[in-house]
Amino acid sequence: MNVVLLGAPGAGKGTQAEKMIEAWGLPHISTGDILRKAVADGTPLGVQAKTYMDAGELVPDLVVIGLVKSRLEEPDAEKGFILDGFPRTGEQAEALDRELASLGRTIDAAISIDVDRDVIVKRLTSRRTCRSCGKIYSLLADPPADPAVCDVCGGELYQRDDDTEATVRNRLAVYDRSTAPLVDYYRSKGVLHVLDGDRPVDEVFADVRRIVEG
Ligand code: AP5
Repeated sequence: MNVVLLGAPGAGKGTQAEKMIEAWGLPHISTGDILRKAVADGTPLGVQAKTYMDAGELVPDLVVIGLVKSRLEEPDAEKGFILDGFPRTGEQAEALDRELASLGRTIDAAISIDVDRDVIVKRLTSRRTCRSCGKIYSLLADPPADPAVCDVCGGELYQRDDDTEATVRNRLAVYDRSTAPLVDYYRSKGVLHVLDGDRPVDEVFADVRRIVEG
């Protein structure tokens, strides 16, 4: 199954991807995670990406397309994949289609998770992520026992640099301008599923399961 997760920042793409990995063991290709790791490692890619990410702007298409292309060509992606945070522009979506066509594959489902903007701002300013295992928490909906420590692995929990209210508002504006049109792009291909993301995580996942398992 080749799945694209669409939705505004904070809609719950990463949270649903965690559950999809647990259920089906599909590789999770998150451009945000790849870029954050590059920033943390101080690689040339990370140095280039950091300015865009801190401002809530998109990293240039050419850079991100190259990353995803090589990731899709790795052997584990042959059994299917979850793309999270990619594509984000028309150019990225077309490049993805070209790459998949060259591999003889297509997108089976594009799942768009919808959540009200005020809910998103509250969610993102209260998100914490584990630096070691990447588990995502919400101080509101799914708080860890200790707000600084991961329940799963004991790693340090941190707040993303781009989760301040001002940057979140800009990320939402960038989403509306550049990424929201992709909903129509995938609708026209007949693979779009729109889910109400303002429900408990497991309820949203029950719908994801229905889509993936048919
Ligand atoms: P990226 O990392 O992709 O961030 P994003 O798309 O802005 O999405 P988020 O990770 O913020 O949110 P999410 O939908 O995964 O929500 P989550 O599950 O964590 O991108 C970051 C930056 O990298 C971009 O701004 C850009 O600069 C760059 N970038 C990345 N990809 C790029 C690309 N393709 N092109 C160019 N640039 C790119 O949930 C959020 C919170 O809500 C959590 O606390 C969670 O616990 C909670 N939550 C989740 N679901 C629920 C629920 N159902 N009920 C209550 N709380 C919930």
